[in-house]
Amino acid sequence: MAEACSICEGTGLHVVTGENGDRFAQECSCQLQLRINRKLERAGIPARFRGKSLESYKAEGKHASIFAAKNFAKRFVDTYPFGMKGIGVVLVGSSGLGKTHLAASMLQALIVEKQVRGLFFDYQELLKLIQNSYNPSVAATELGVLQPVFEAEVLVLDDLGSTRPTDWVWDTVSHIVNSRYNRDRTTILTTNFADEPAVWSESAAQPAGAFAAMRRGETLGDRIGERMRSRLHEMCEFLVLEGEDQRQGEYRAQFRPL
Ligand SMILES: Nc1ncnc2c1ncn2[C@@H]1O[C@H](COP(=O)(O)OP(=O)(O)OP(=O)(O)O)[C@@H](O)[C@H]1O
Ligand SMILES: [Mg+2]
Ligand SMILES: [Zn+2]
Repeated sequence: MAEACSICEGTGLHVVTGENGDRFAQECSCQLQLRINRKLERAGIPARFRGKSLESYKAEGKHASIFAAKNFAKRFVDTYPFGMKGIGVVLVGSSGLGKTHLAASMLQALIVEKQVRGLFFDYQELLKLIQNSYNPSVAATELGVLQPVFEAEVLVLDDLGSTRPTDWVWDTVSHIVNSRYNRDRTTILTTNFADEPAVWSESAAQPAGAFAAMRRGETLGDRIGERMRSRLHEMCEFLVLEGEDQRQGEYRAQFRPL
């Protein structure tokens, strides 16, 4: 069990004396910290990205787009909720540029600094969860899995387009994105696919994996559909990240030959 707070001894209240000598009970500062910790736990941020911060996202000596993305993210958090007027963000770029790091750290900063109710979901995992919980009564599915996704003040949807596109996937994603848009809720998305129109005809055989799709040059238009892409342009600012894969750097450091 956590150690009891030394100010309120775990009661959550402490007695203060006003200027006129009146004594009254006030909420102890530890309660705010408890609420923040609970929100952080409920946000579902993957362990690898818990504790990643905007401060630990290094921009010095990196591509100008990395520097711009970090500044944008800081401004976004500082001015939330009024600065962006409900507008979200799509971080676009190839693997290892820190898109998930940035998205997770924006969400954590918003929870800590602005006490938002936030939720992190990997695109593929969310779709699987919806599929598995699918109930013939749409209302039941919505209550169970979708409602929190619709209602979270800030939603991170990581790796948009990583699931093989099907009509069901497109319908589900458009349901989510449209519901959030109609409720003026902020959504932060990341994707490996270039923000360009569809290049592959719908009849072409779709490769199963996102990696194969990327290799054959599929675009965001191919993976989420043109209608959804244009909807995202209405509701989000697009930031394109460029530069070197930071993950390779990590691996190189780990496996450097003796
Ligand atoms: N600019 C940076 N400063 C510090 N660490 C970084 C930076 N960019 C990436 N990293 C680290 O590199 C690793 C890979 O980053 P991350 O997973 O966020 O990349 P990604 O763009 O989401 O890649 P993918 O498209 O494969 O999901 C993480 O451990 C992350 O913390
Ligand atoms: Mg990622
Ligand atoms: Zn206390």
